[in-house]
Amino acid sequence: PKRITKVCCVGAGYVGGPTSAVMAIKNPQIQVTVVDYDAKRIAAWQSDNLPIFEPGLLGVVKPARDGIPNNRAPNLFFSTDVDRCIAEAELILLSVNTPTKMLGQGAGHASELCYLESAVRKIGEVAESSKIIVEKSTVPCRAAETLRDVLRATGKPGVDFEILSNPEFLAEGTAIQNLLEPDRVLIGSLNTPQGLEAARALAAIYTSWVDAERIITINLYSSELAKLAANALLAQRISSINALSAMCEAVGADIDEVSFAVGLDKRIGSRMLKASVGFGGSCFRKDILSLAYIAESLHLFEVAEYWRSVININEYQKDRFTRRIVRCLFNSLSNKSLAILGFAYKKNTGDTRETAAITVINNLLAEGANVRVYDPQVKESQIRRDLEGSSASPHLVRDKLTVWSSTYEACAGADAVVILTEWDEFSNKSAAAAAAGDHVQDARNGARTEEEAANGPMSWKRVSQIMRKPMYVFDGRNVVDPAPLEALGFRVESVGKSRSGS
Ligand code: NAD
Ligand code: UDX
Repeated sequence: PKRITKVCCVGAGYVGGPTSAVMAIKNPQIQVTVVDYDAKRIAAWQSDNLPIFEPGLLGVVKPARDGIPNNRAPNLFFSTDVDRCIAEAELILLSVNTPTKMLGQGAGHASELCYLESAVRKIGEVAESSKIIVEKSTVPCRAAETLRDVLRATGKPGVDFEILSNPEFLAEGTAIQNLLEPDRVLIGSLNTPQGLEAARALAAIYTSWVDAERIITINLYSSELAKLAANALLAQRISSINALSAMCEAVGADIDEVSFAVGLDKRIGSRMLKASVGFGGSCFRKDILSLAYIAESLHLFEVAEYWRSVININEYQKDRFTRRIVRCLFNSLSNKSLAILGFAYKKNTGDTRETAAITVINNLLAEGANVRVYDPQVKESQIRRDLEGSSASPHLVRDKLTVWSSTYEACAGADAVVILTEWDEFSNKSAAAAAAGDHVQDARNGARTEEEAANGPMSWKRVSQIMRKPMYVFDGRNVVDPAPLEALGFRVESVGKSRSGS
């Protein structure tokens, strides 16, 4: 295949940055430049203060400065010079955002493709030589056709463009690991000699570190749809288990035990079956909305309704969690303080897009509660922006919400602790059990003393001494083992479990 020597990645975000860093390390012979028109973001990539928090990321992108050695591959660059980098590249990865459309037809459902279109118009305008263009962003089915149309109309004569789909499957918090050891790399192309040739050129880049049998080449439109399908199926598993968690609470079953039991069936598998306060993140909701919108525009109304129900259960789960808090706290949150532990949509990221915390906290504020938030990675300014931007009464956020820099400050004087992100420091389980998600085992081993179990990375004992009584823990992530906390005087409410003894 054609040997690529220069790659340009458009979009220096959660996908573009880490993907390009790994691609560059594994292909020292290829110059990889990440471009973004957001100069602040590019400057942050050049500093020790990266624009995103991701374990292991600094280890691969930290730039050399003041004689301190480089972690960054010498062939990896970040730049705002979009035109030049596009013009020089032979292969262009499009990693721009494709959020839910906010305006006009399909608002609140369809994917907004304006960022992708503008990147492609730029390519048409500045390209002097033929290029392979790769959709890394998640896109609706047949988006490649639209891009091809734009390029045909804007490209210079004699300059050819081949469009590939190469969706990204990394999950935040484990991005580097996922990129280094992907389950599969999907490359979709047209079934033409030029399309297949371009797919081979892209595959050659991945074979530097991914086994050939994990690199799957399929039809362009299958590849686009496979990405939406993967996210829809993953989210569907979480909504299924969350729907069952409501039944567990009602009948006295334990969702972690149910999940463990069904997950042992190899056809089901154990992953993505953890009950929670609800899934968040920039992808699941947006991609299911997009899938449902596409189905609807194809007049497949039952299909659209099926996928939307995954989102409906997620909304229900977030509201159900809040209702339970209100019910347990004697049906009134007026004059009560709630400590919120965790704001990010999952652990090991500072990302707050679509986090369940936004819905839950707004609900609690609307009930009159004082809310005291702590998250180890999310800045106060971000928390305020997210809540004020989504609240029906932003003044409640200003008047009743405080943000703290430790668990103990957040919990001081609180009536309840509400765990919304599964950060390791909030757990009182052994690290091994928590990492394995092996709650059933953990509960039955009983090897640790109560004192040990009550003192995980944060001291629950210390928390018990600074809270107002009666003290509650609402565990939206099932990261605490209730028994040792109950011994300290807490009343513990976990998702999909009825309180021990009740
Ligand atoms: P992001 O918002 O973090 O980054 C996108 C970047 O693109 C921004 O910095 C923005 O300034 C830049 N950009 C937009 N239009 C541009 C243009 N015309 N020229 C130059 N720069 C431009 O988004 P993200 O989370 O990295 O997601 C990117 C895509 O990857 C989305 O389609 C998303 O669905 C998909 N995806 C995301 C994840 C994830 O975990 N975040 C995982 C898999 C796939
Ligand atoms: C997801 C997909 O996993 C990834 O393949 C895709 O590329 C982007 O979207 P991400 O959103 O980063 O990745 O994280 P993921 O681990 O999938 O978690 C999404 C949400 O579901 C989080 O809020 C998480 O806490 C929640 N979740 C996850 C559960 O509630 N239960 C689970 O069992 C797993």
